[in-house]
Amino acid sequence: MNMNMMELCKSAELPVEGTCGGMAMCASCHMYIESDHELHEATDDEEDMLDQAFFVEGNSRLGCQIQLHQDLDGLVVRLAPVGE
Ligand code: FES
Repeated sequence: MNMNMMELCKSAELPVEGTCGGMAMCASCHMYIESDHELHEATDDEEDMLDQAFFVEGNSRLGCQIQLHQDLDGLVVRLAPVGE
């Protein structure tokens, strides 16, 4: 399907804006990883954007940087609250 978590959430009409279109430049797809899945390391761009986001926790990721694939079956995420 070649989608990421931001796109999947948007397609399910969840309140994820994805303002920058998946370029790791807005943090409007900020979400928390709630399951034990091993995700790839965040890139410097993702880390930099999360540094500027609100309500960041240890399990914070940008949904647009999580490419969907078979190994993520059962992944549980929680959407971050929208910052001011
Ligand atoms: S959609 Fe902008 S950072 Fe993910």
